[in-house]
Amino acid sequence: IESDRYVYAHNACAIAYKMTWSNQEWWPEMLRLDILDDNAAELDPYGDDFDYAEAFDSLDLDEVKSDIQEVMMDSQEWWPADYGNYGPLFIRMAWHSAGTYRTLDGRAGAAGARQRLPPESSWPDNVNLDKARRLLQPVKQKYGRKLSWGDLIILAGNVALETMGFETYGFGGGREDAYKSNEAIEWGPETEWETTSPDRFEDGEVGNLKDPLANTVMGLIYVNPEGPYGEPDVDGSAANIREEFDRMAMDDEETVALIAGGHTFGKVHGADDETEVGPEPDAAPIEDQGLGWDHDFEKAGMITSGIEGPWNATPTVWDTGYVDNLLEYEWEPHKGPGGAWQWRPATEEEREDIEKAPAAQDFDESEEPMMLTTDVALKRDDDYRAILEDFQENPDHFQQAFARAWYKLIHRDMGPKQRLAGPEVPEEEFVWQDPIPEADYETVGAEEVAELEAAIRDADLSRTDLVKTAWASASTYRDSDKRGGANGARVRLEPQKNWEANEPETLADVLDTYEEIQADFNESRDDDVRVSLADLIVLGGNVGVEDAAADAGYDVDVPFEPGRTDASAEQTDADSFEPLKPKADGFRNYIGDGDWNDLYDSLEERMVDKADLLTLSVAELTVLVGGMRAIGATYDDTDRGVLTDDPGALTNDFFANLLDMDYEWEAVDDDEEVFEGYDRASGEKVWEATRFDLVFGANARLRAHADVYAAEDGEEKLVEDFVEAWHKVMTLDRFDLE
Ligand code: HEM
Repeated sequence: IESDRYVYAHNACAIAYKMTWSNQEWWPEMLRLDILDDNAAELDPYGDDFDYAEAFDSLDLDEVKSDIQEVMMDSQEWWPADYGNYGPLFIRMAWHSAGTYRTLDGRAGAAGARQRLPPESSWPDNVNLDKARRLLQPVKQKYGRKLSWGDLIILAGNVALETMGFETYGFGGGREDAYKSNEAIEWGPETEWETTSPDRFEDGEVGNLKDPLANTVMGLIYVNPEGPYGEPDVDGSAANIREEFDRMAMDDEETVALIAGGHTFGKVHGADDETEVGPEPDAAPIEDQGLGWDHDFEKAGMITSGIEGPWNATPTVWDTGYVDNLLEYEWEPHKGPGGAWQWRPATEEEREDIEKAPAAQDFDESEEPMMLTTDVALKRDDDYRAILEDFQENPDHFQQAFARAWYKLIHRDMGPKQRLAGPEVPEEEFVWQDPIPEADYETVGAEEVAELEAAIRDADLSRTDLVKTAWASASTYRDSDKRGGANGARVRLEPQKNWEANEPETLADVLDTYEEIQADFNESRDDDVRVSLADLIVLGGNVGVEDAAADAGYDVDVPFEPGRTDASAEQTDADSFEPLKPKADGFRNYIGDGDWNDLYDSLEERMVDKADLLTLSVAELTVLVGGMRAIGATYDDTDRGVLTDDPGALTNDFFANLLDMDYEWEAVDDDEEVFEGYDRASGEKVWEATRFDLVFGANARLRAHADVYAAEDGEEKLVEDFVEAWHKVMTLDRFDLE
């Protein structure tokens, strides 16, 4: 009962909660496989066949935008609009929706509209954004399935900017809604909101965040507005901002443009430290219907962050008011009326001089502009300051920089441009969208595919070369931000061609052979038909799988859909691919050097995380690992985990031998990553394996699946399921296929 998790579940939620502990609560160290269950479940009430992007395309976007604008300017008594305009609130809502995105695992971001689901719905940083979404409820209701919450939240941000005089770069729809929280997202180790544990950082002190985190405080999108640990330390704040915006894929100019652009609008709320604020939405009483943070705002105004004031005199107009105030005045820290650190002009004279904004709810009154510690940090950091000064001198540049950074912010988690729907998608394709060129030739058909398969079989390529190269190419895919995958054949480019997991030397030889096959084929054609390397790599993998199945006695056809093209180095931002690099890969039994310091403690947790990014179910994870071991497709062609006397054939030997009580296992050293399997009777060493392998015998759920395949009638099922799962991975990035 002392467990924090228990206290959170039973007290903080304040809802009727089952009293029996879950297995995970009894055994907190148990491998969390439940995150894969979402991949196998039908969670979308519109069903699998519903094509949301198509539905969005059928909307009259101008009509939607004018409906949003109407809501924006129509102040409601239950939550009166500051300055008669909900625009700034909508911008903050859109920013907090997109701003959770992090490059390291590509998770979070605006797609899914998870701001309306816990924990984001109740995060202390999202206070009162429930009001913004409730204001938009009539628009959502009017358009139903054609307009997801994910798109509506972001579009409302764009409409707000445009209505207040800013020219945005465009809008792409297509964000499908989630109907369940994503439990695979690691938010950090703390069990209390708005705290920072030393365990969040690599060396236990504020500095490098552990992979995959991007925020410094539990429950805040990025950084503490008051400064690190709630202290007005501008240098520490600038360092935090730089690290965290970098993890959102933003460079210095984009970072300054976003913060300065955003804080040109609106105000912060916290004029009083005595007003009582009710529980967050997920802990609110049932009659509040999911509206949280209930308080009497008529006395002291809205309480949101607990900091108070506008940034400039014109909070609903796009101008350089924020940049001018920040640069032209000296700012000093003080405790504001809400009891939080904030900054005011440093002298009495300056406080008199600075142009006041009208009070948000009473235009006869006025309010003095303020700054957050994070704003002043931009001025104190030399590099950020130079950018601010440039923006002040060149407002057009400021406008352009903010427009482009905002466009990137709100689309960064959506993957390639071809996934963006609607009439406002700009022509320009950005390198962060990992462009894949269109084919300027005719794609191979069935006859040519058969010819190429024969050429692959004739070439000097081993089965493991074929399977591993296809895996190396396709398995970079991550569904979180739709990056990676086999299309584009980026496995032949920097940095992927040099990733250790890909065995660079062997890979280079394999790719040379594929290039020869490609050249021979393309040169032999007197028509427009050509084959891409990307297609050849996948086709080769399929050949390897078909031959492995044949060796086990099964005649199978792995489906193959040609149409991939090859991207160039110029179309590839090599640095941005670093986070996709496998530090370890359970599927290839690559344990890496173990030299990582992140939130995933064990190899098997990393394997499950990868399986989730590949949208695999527990069954698919199981069959892929067991099948690849049987084929012998392991890193460096090691025997580890190849629990068969007949490697290369797609048998069920891996599972049968793993579950066989004739063998017992022993770790080779204290790392407990590599194990040896001994014959209990003779004491002879028979096998070698890693944690990636043994977990299929040790974890009860994985063992349940291993049982299915290990059985005497399990092999045919293994072959069928393997082919299906393999094909799924090979085509995860084929957004062009129906
Ligand atoms: C409001 C912090 C970046 C747009 C606020 C508030 C805080 C804050 C504390 C006050 C909330 C309230 O009391 O109502 C930060 C921090 C940032 C950051 C620490 C990063 C270092 C951004 C960015 C944007 C943005 C990148 C948009 C591009 C806004 C807007 C408001 C706001 C429009 C006003 C909302 C209103 O008037 O209701 N921010 N922010 N912020 N923020 Fe930020």
